[in-house]
Amino acid sequence: MRTQVVIIGAGPAGLMLSHLLHRQGVASLVLERRSVEYVLGRIRAGVLEQVTTDLLREIGVDAGMARDGLKHEGFCLALDGDMFRIDMHDLTGGKSVMVYGQTQVTKDLVEAFAARPGELIFGAENVTLHDIAGHAPSVTYEKDGRIHQVMCDYIAGCDGYHGVCRASLPAHAGRAFERAYPFGWLGILADVPPCHEELIYSNHERGFALASMRSPTRSRYYVQVPSDEDLAEWPDSRLWDELATRLGPEVAPCIQTGPSIEKSIAGLKSFVFEPMRYGKLFLAGDAAHIVPPTGAKGLNLAMSDVKLLSRALIARYAEGTETELEQYSARALARVWKAERFSWWFTSITHRFPTMDAFDRKMQMAELAYIRGSRAAQAVMAENYVGLPI
Ligand code: FAD
Ligand code: PHB
Repeated sequence: MRTQVVIIGAGPAGLMLSHLLHRQGVASLVLERRSVEYVLGRIRAGVLEQVTTDLLREIGVDAGMARDGLKHEGFCLALDGDMFRIDMHDLTGGKSVMVYGQTQVTKDLVEAFAARPGELIFGAENVTLHDIAGHAPSVTYEKDGRIHQVMCDYIAGCDGYHGVCRASLPAHAGRAFERAYPFGWLGILADVPPCHEELIYSNHERGFALASMRSPTRSRYYVQVPSDEDLAEWPDSRLWDELATRLGPEVAPCIQTGPSIEKSIAGLKSFVFEPMRYGKLFLAGDAAHIVPPTGAKGLNLAMSDVKLLSRALIARYAEGTETELEQYSARALARVWKAERFSWWFTSITHRFPTMDAFDRKMQMAELAYIRGSRAAQAVMAENYVGLPI
């Protein structure tokens, strides 16, 4: 079989890239290792920047978001329970974010493949890349006991942090930059109304907490835990108690508790691999970079990458030149590094680090007090949170 672009991974990046290419007549095949049930069951991001909502509208996959998405014009910060608001709308000249779960985005994007039979394959095992540095790239995979080969012009590595694409690169192909954090986020999803109409990012002496949501009847909460924490140590009751403490006395009475419908621990990491191209292979999304979730940037960076990559591929087929493709990595990385900086900084002012001493804690408190009292500092925060221009 032959196609123009083989896309590895059916996360938000791979699915969106395929739809963007399809709209401009560029053929692609998406290969996903997991089952459709697994992919649609994953609970991850919740906050969409305008770059993401614009792309969903552009490909006409916005009905779910238009119906169920919650527009947020501000968010709250709290220090030891004392809360203040960042008015994103006012501070950015009218911008906002959309609360609409990644699980739902993925479902909408997968459903849109119903009109494109055969172009999205789940359960593709042992995906292997061939001749990525040469003139005849191809991808092989196993499905239903048979090996399939797909010849192509380009390969898009949208297979996340643990995928095969970056792992297939020779050592000289680029360089990785990395920072691991000594903690993770324990997340809980529950069918109870959110405790507040906007998100609350809370710096508490006992550690960070986040109050988020998926809908007016479904809440998503996180608490910072040590990296090696055992999930079994966290029955729902302990988690609800800890949230009440860390979110503080103003919010605690508004927290409605209920049984968890999902509970998991995710590690935190900053990571960038550059360049995002090697030969015929282009990396996009988590395959090339990871941010700690504090800034809500991961999914949105994946989307801005594929916006740039789709434009470059479309230009390649329309004009016959690789000029835009040659610029892809540098253009994507320019935005990626700024989001890395914001996510790292937001993490550093809101989390409790095991090595922190009393002075470090005072610095965090001073930083939050400064943000609270300075419109300029709030504007910087809001500008980054709604998403920098591409
Ligand atoms: P992925 O979603 O990881 O998709 C990659 C796909 O490739 C997967 O389906 C995988 O199964 C597949 N794959 C892997 N290996 C192979 C292989 N060998 N062959 C074939 N397929 C393969 N981001 C935000 O923007 N806002 C948020 O609020 C936010 N909150 C988050 C909260 C948590 C707890 C976590 C964990 C993440 C959060 N993120 C957030 C980050 C966001 O979820 C990711 O950045 C996003 O999923 C990246 O999309 P992607 O398509 O690049 O990669
Ligand atoms: C979420 O709702 O899952 C979420 C929201 C904001 C973040 C991270 C995760 O910064």
